[in-house]
Amino acid sequence: MTSPESPLVTVLGGGQLGRMLGLAAIPLGIRCRFLDPVAGAPAVAVGPLEVGPLGDPEALDRVAAGADVVTYEWEGVPADGARRLADRVPVRPGWRALEVAQDRLAEKTAFRRLGIPVPEFAAVDDAAGLDAALDAIGVPAVLKTRRGGYDGKGQAVIRTAAEGLAALAELGSTGLILEALVPFDRELSVIAARGVDGTVGTFPLVENLHRDGILRVSRAPATVDPATRAAGDDIAARLLADLDYVGVLTVELFDVGGTLLANEIAPRVHNSGHWTIEGAETSQFEQHLRAVLGWPLGSPAARGHSAMLNAIGTLPPREAVLAVPGARLHEYGKAPRPGRKVGHVTVVAETPAVLDDRLARLLAIAPGTLG
Ligand SMILES: Nc1ncnc2c1ncn2[C@@H]1O[C@H](COP(=O)(O)OP(=O)(O)OP(=O)(O)O)[C@@H](O)[C@H]1O
Ligand SMILES: [Mg+2]
Repeated sequence: MTSPESPLVTVLGGGQLGRMLGLAAIPLGIRCRFLDPVAGAPAVAVGPLEVGPLGDPEALDRVAAGADVVTYEWEGVPADGARRLADRVPVRPGWRALEVAQDRLAEKTAFRRLGIPVPEFAAVDDAAGLDAALDAIGVPAVLKTRRGGYDGKGQAVIRTAAEGLAALAELGSTGLILEALVPFDRELSVIAARGVDGTVGTFPLVENLHRDGILRVSRAPATVDPATRAAGDDIAARLLADLDYVGVLTVELFDVGGTLLANEIAPRVHNSGHWTIEGAETSQFEQHLRAVLGWPLGSPAARGHSAMLNAIGTLPPREAVLAVPGARLHEYGKAPRPGRKVGHVTVVAETPAVLDDRLARLLAIAPGTLG
């Protein structure tokens, strides 16, 4: 018997998401090759890493040569480069998902077009535009750059006219979007995958806690009523179908009294899905690989109750983490730096009460750094 050939997946971006895609690929016999601007990026541990700008045509050609499929782990990949590659090799998800995800105005306009509830928003391109937008939306509001923001960077909350002027000075006055500041009860996310044949698998909703604009803790499955679960599934399904999407898609949501408003999408595996490595039948990373290769999707069902804590800035002491039953440590191979995600810990338990207890123990290990 001959063994089937080992497929090659080219991943644009070699950060921790690439590294975890590469780890999931190994037992499936999939090879991953990465492109990242930084030598020694986290994915170097799991496959060959080409060093070069993600928009550089020559670097893209080199890294895509011979690949069965090209995917990405960062939505900042220039959509033009992805479109050019798509002439020769399947690029999944497609460049249209990239274009929508890269521009908050296009993103929110798409939500509205698809009947997905969204916070009030308006484009802002100068000081007069900000005045008009503030008149229409009111305060409090949040002014964001349309492109390039992450981890809460490139945004400012506005409560007064003076804060509006300060926000313009800080963010520049063009290419912005003003959004109503939503008084949400909590933040949720829905992570779903769509296969080449259109099959969809949706993970249980995740509850996310942010501090200073950075995700700190995720819990899954979130405690939700069936209507909320159905609303989350429906939002993901509409976007997946509209974008003719292949791969894993994440939608960040605000839960306001049981109504889900869409905040943004990530056309990739997502930090709020890391719990699936230990806490779901199929991890988001394996699911993404299965989807982009045209393979059958795995079950997205949860196994028990999970929490994920990000390690921000520095790693927690290993032995203290490993002493907590059910806890798993994931290091990304990144140098410590304030505000940087350098690893995460997932803890799984059979009941919510046991999970609460284990989570409390983990939160006490390195306050401000872990979780
Ligand atoms: N309109 C809003 N109303 C209330 N809170 C908001 C709003 N927009 C953003 N936030 C808060 O700021 C956080 C980060 O905002 P957002 O997700 O838009 O930006 P981001 O920089 O792309 O974040 P990330 O990269 O972490 O997903 C949100 O998770 C939420 O806590
Ligand atoms: Mg976000």
